[in-house]
Formats: sequence, structure tokens, C-alpha cells
Amino acid sequence: MEQEKIGTAQGKEETAILTVNGKTIGLPVITGTEGEKAIDISRLRQLTGYITLDLGYGNTGSCTSAITFMDGEKGILRYRGIPVGQLAEHSTFVETAYLLINGRLPIQRELQAFSVMLNDHSLVHEDMKFFFQNYPRATHPMGILSSMVTALRSFYPELETLSHTENVNMTMTRLLSKLRTMAAVSYKISRGHTPEYPRPDLSYCANFLNMMFNSPVKPYVIDDVLVKALNTFWILHADHEQNCSTSVVRMVGSARVNLYAAISAGMAALWGPLHGGANQKVVEMLEKIQAAGGDAKPFIARAKDKNDPFRLMGFGHRVYKTYDPRAKIMKNICHDVLARLKTDDPLLPIAMELEETARKDLYFIDHNLYPNVDFYSGIVLRALGIPTNMFTVMFAIGRLPGWIAQWKEDHDDPGWRLHRPRQIYVGNTVRDYVPMSQRTEAGAEPGKAAAPRSGRKPAP
Ligand code: SDX
Repeated sequence: MEQEKIGTAQGKEETAILTVNGKTIGLPVITGTEGEKAIDISRLRQLTGYITLDLGYGNTGSCTSAITFMDGEKGILRYRGIPVGQLAEHSTFVETAYLLINGRLPIQRELQAFSVMLNDHSLVHEDMKFFFQNYPRATHPMGILSSMVTALRSFYPELETLSHTENVNMTMTRLLSKLRTMAAVSYKISRGHTPEYPRPDLSYCANFLNMMFNSPVKPYVIDDVLVKALNTFWILHADHEQNCSTSVVRMVGSARVNLYAAISAGMAALWGPLHGGANQKVVEMLEKIQAAGGDAKPFIARAKDKNDPFRLMGFGHRVYKTYDPRAKIMKNICHDVLARLKTDDPLLPIAMELEETARKDLYFIDHNLYPNVDFYSGIVLRALGIPTNMFTVMFAIGRLPGWIAQWKEDHDDPGWRLHRPRQIYVGNTVRDYVPMSQRTEAGAEPGKAAAPRSGRKPAP
């Protein structure tokens, strides 16, 4: 058999050899800075006529990226090389946002200028309040904010007088500052209260808490421990490499759509209960366990039942096959905030007992299911006074700098390509149009079923 070594890219020290359909080719292997390896299949179809199929992309890299590194087996998470635990301890959310977007920590002058920009853009157009006021009251805050982010572009279009880069930077700053304000405005209006304006004398996180909870009849007292907890909460959520919503932001952005629209799409993806919507589902699950007298065993039994679509919310992860490093820190914040407020949350002991029980259960051990970022985050948010239906909004505000950094990295990549995956078609082969007079019930031949997926019924 003629060995045809094609596709060995210049300068790549490793080559994967593939033999398919009687042809042998060499595909270049890419090695990341942390030693991760990928087979570059960019020329696979051109060389063999074959594509790959990877349902859910569990084995497929969509890009190379210099923003966030995760090691799912070791439970490592670093933003631009800095361990998330160090940022949680020493940094602020604004500084971490700067790091993610610009690739390095700011010097004092740069951080000050960034904070001033965020403050200057913290107001939202007064006309936007009519949008919030006229939304059906029962609308989920994620639905409101996802559409309001797109609406921002109508109020703040790109300016002809600015360069493309200046317009992008302005849009990034506006989004970082205004999403936080819009979330608080939405909350206040949902309660029939007058929105609270941002204050120039408060930090990013303190401003949010004040906009949410300050009231003419009960002034909100800024508590440094709670502000620190919110900074840490948002730092822990700030980026997570190519998760579902970030991949959506990159894909939508690859069509060269504006940043507002790409972020709005990312918010829609994050809303899903298997993704960012899980933090709300965790608290709802813990409340059900509480209502059932605190006995978690029936819930664990359901989670293990293949015929039951129920999943233990806040458990499991596509990448982490050990404890999510963020969940460990989040668990500590629960204790810090509850101790500061001199209060308890009955859901915390239920969550801790659930974790302990699940972690001893062979099903969870064999499936490498550990608490993820969402398992304890809801308890922190409850302690801060955030309503349950705003939990995913809080995740979105935290993830925004990551989405922006990832969109920018794709946008600035000289090798940029429109994201357009292929497929394997499993439907009807060619057939003719049938006139109505000749159609019969039996003739309503369905398309062939897609290749059956392994595992249980899809999660709810
Ligand atoms: C986030 O990707 C990211 O980085 C996301 C995120 C981020 O910061 O952006 O970290 C944020 O989304 C965290 C995840 C929040 N979601 C939840 O907590 C929902 C509950 N978890 C699951 O639905 C699940 O674990 C996923 C969706 C998170 C991951 O699922 P995968 O990787 O697609 O794995 P899978 O569904 O193929 O499950 C593998 C096996 C299956 O059993 P088998 O059929 O192989 O026997 O594990 C089981 C699953 O049934 N399993 C669970 C489970 N999670 C997986 N069984 C019970 N309870 C669970 N939670």
C-alpha cells in the first residue's frame, strides 16, 4: 500500500498517521503551552473525503486560545496563567476583567482609568426603563436581559467618528458597566420600585448591591465582607474556556456580527438548566429536599436511575472529573457571608450532607461526579439577598468579561474563519414530490432516525 505522508505541517514535531479507505495520511499534532495535544484535522476532508463526528464536541477543539487554562483531571483553573484561587484572594472583579480582556494585570494608572470608564458608562438610557416597565411581569430576568443587551446597540450604536478598535473598546466598556446596571434596574422595576442610580463613590460590586437594595425608606449599608464575597463570586465565574455559552459567543461573533448581539446569544445559551441555569435549579432542588424533611436519598436514587431524566443539579461537569476548584472557594464564601450576617441558611447543611452522601456513592464515584461551580453559588446569592430567579443573571454578569475576551480573541485572530461545522446526513435518500391526490397515510414515510445516542433520556 503506498504510504502517502501528506498534511505534515512544516515545523510540527509530531504527526498522527491515519489510514482510511486504503489511504494513509499524516496529520500534524499541535501541542499547547501546558502540553495538551490535538490532531489538526483542518485538511482531513480535502485529503480523505472523510469528516469526524463528535456529538457534543467532547473530543473536539474549536480554537486555540490564550485566555483560560483548565485541567479537568487535576482541577486546575487559571486566567491568563494566574490560578483562580490567587485572583479570588487578591484581585477584584474589575481587575480580573481587565486581565482577561487585555492579557495582563493593569498597572495602577490603567486600573484607575478602566474604573473611571466603567463609572462613566454605568448609566442606561432613560428610555430603556420603558422597555423594562412594559415587559410582562412574569418574564424571567434572563429573557429580559438577553433582549435588552441587543437593544443596547440601538441606544449606543458605533460612531463614525471612532475607529473600529475605539468602537469595540467603547462597546466592551458599555457592556461591562451597563449589564450590571440593567440587572438592578430590572429587579427594582419588577418590584414596582424606582430604580436606584449608580454612584461615583462606590466600587463596581458595591454599586451593584446598592442599586439592588438601597431604598428611600431603608438605606443599604455597604458591608465590605459582602462586597468581597460578590467580587469573588464574579471572579470565579469570569471565564471557563470553551463552555457552551462562550462557544456560542465565538460562533455568533464569527459571522462578524456586533458584540452586543454575540453577548445576547451567549446569555440565551447560559440560561439553559444544564449550563448557567443550574444555580437556580440547585436551590430549587435543595428547597424540595428541605420540604421533604431533609432526606436527600430519594433525589440521589432518581439521579442514578437511567430511566429518570432527573440530574443532581450542581453535580457533574464535562471537563472537571474532580472537584471544581471554584466550588471549593464558593463553599468557603458561604460560611464567610453567613457568619458575617450572623445567620444560617438551612439549605447549606442540606447541601453539605447531599455532597457527602453523593461522594460516597459508587455511582457518583464511578461517573466522576463532583460539585461544580453552581452547587454552592446559590447559597451565597441567597445570603446576599439576590432573588432566585436572578441567579443566572448573576452568573452572566460574572461571565461577561470572559465572553468579551473570547469574542475579541476570535475577532482579532488573523486566521479567523466563519464557524460552520459539517454533518453526517441520516435522512431520506432522494425521492420525488408526491401530488396531494396520490398521498396516503402509509406513504407519509418518516425520515430515517438519527444515530441513537448513548445514555439516558435527555436531561430536563
Ligand atoms: C456549568 O462547560 C463549562 O465549563 C460549564 C460551566 C462554566 O463555568 O461555564 O462550568 C458552568 O454549566 C456547570 C454545569 C452546571 N450544570 C449542572 O449542574 C446540571 C447537572 N449536571 C449535568 O447535567 C452534567 O453533569 C453536565 C451537563 C454538566 C455535563 O454532562 P456531560 O459532560 O454531557 O455528561 P453526560 O451527560 O454525558 O453524563 C455522563 C454520565 C451519564 O451517565 P451514563 O449514561 O454514562 O451512565 O454521567 C451521568 C449521566 O447520566 N451524569 C449525571 C449527572 N451528570 C452526569 N447523573 C446524575 N446527575 C448528574 N448531575
